[in-house]
Amino acid sequence: MARVLIENITKSYGETEVLHGINTDISDGEFIVIVGPSGCGKSTLLRMIAGLEDISSGTISIDGRVVNTLEPKDRDIAMVFQNYALYPHMTVFKNMAYGLKLRKFSKKNIKIRVHQAAKLLQLEELLERKPRQLSGGQRQRVAMGRCIVREPKVFLFDEPLSNLDAKLRVQMRLELRKLHKRLKVTSIYVTHDQVEAMTLGDRLVVINDGYAEQIGPPLELYEKPASIFVAGFLGSPAMNFISAQISADGKTAQLSEDVKVPVANPLSKQGITEKKVTFGIRPEHFSLSDKEKTGLPLRVDHAEFHGASTMIYGRLPGNDELITVRLPHIHHISPETVLMLTALPEHIHIFDQKTGKRI
Ligand SMILES: Nc1ncnc2c1ncn2[C@@H]1O[C@H](COP(=O)(O)OP(=O)(O)OP(=O)(O)O)[C@@H](O)[C@H]1O
Ligand SMILES: [Mg+2]
Repeated sequence: MARVLIENITKSYGETEVLHGINTDISDGEFIVIVGPSGCGKSTLLRMIAGLEDISSGTISIDGRVVNTLEPKDRDIAMVFQNYALYPHMTVFKNMAYGLKLRKFSKKNIKIRVHQAAKLLQLEELLERKPRQLSGGQRQRVAMGRCIVREPKVFLFDEPLSNLDAKLRVQMRLELRKLHKRLKVTSIYVTHDQVEAMTLGDRLVVINDGYAEQIGPPLELYEKPASIFVAGFLGSPAMNFISAQISADGKTAQLSEDVKVPVANPLSKQGITEKKVTFGIRPEHFSLSDKEKTGLPLRVDHAEFHGASTMIYGRLPGNDELITVRLPHIHHISPETVLMLTALPEHIHIFDQKTGKRI
């Protein structure tokens, strides 16, 4: 177990800088998820921690020791990749034992460690099988086992579940969580899947185009996203964004030519007047107004039943943006109906349109 300290890390390939100064302090035993869209730099960062990629500037320390120039094998880490490539001609036991054999562990010691890991991963019955005689989830567990037997200080995962089908992914996610609870090894997990990130991480590092946009526990990021990017990235269906012009007195917001709404806590208090902002409201945070004439008038395009909830898609007058609303239970709503929607002030996020940052 170890603390991993990432300070001002940058990475350039030739002239192009792809990571622009990442800072993260990962506590001993923490499960951190690095999440962001494809190409944002997640794997690059992970590979630098692993020692598979040179560091352009900044430092990475593991357990108080700067590892910038250490060989991967000397960093006391184990990495599970998306493509976990087991040796096809070796049994599960031999696959798990291989790394220890290379490190000249005694036969007895290898046996003890492999059996311990197999027990933990419920692979005991499968030790004599070859990889092709295993299911995808079992193979994934063997790949995990290969890492566990080494008892590393840090686990690194790069999208380890993306080759599995949806159901197995959910199952493996739970197993990973349970495993982490038992082993308590510092873990750094890369994914582009926000659901995986929200459910696995003690904290998330949201990366956008080589910048760490926000770092924090999943709920904090969900409830108080620091930017439009984070707000739109976490949550499914995604947050609705509505462009608005704040009035000169900071008390109302014009959403379109025909729609003006009061601002719950006058923004003038914060000196925000006559400003272009973006309102963000999650689909699940709308409710139907109990007063006929107040709220946002949404003209319904169509509605879908999703079992436990109804998804409604529509538009505000004079605004072309499609708005998604999720109401609990089943509602029968025909197209062209106008619904009056409200949302609690604490569920209305306001962002500066120029910087994209939360106000
Ligand atoms: N060897 C390389 N040479 C030049 N550019 C590279 C190299 N490796 C990665 N990049 C670039 O660095 C950026 C970050 O890549 P990286 O693989 O870290 O993305 P990622 O966030 O892991 O994406 P994905 O979710 O698709 O795996 C990308 O723009 C990529 O094209
Ligand atoms: Mg990647």
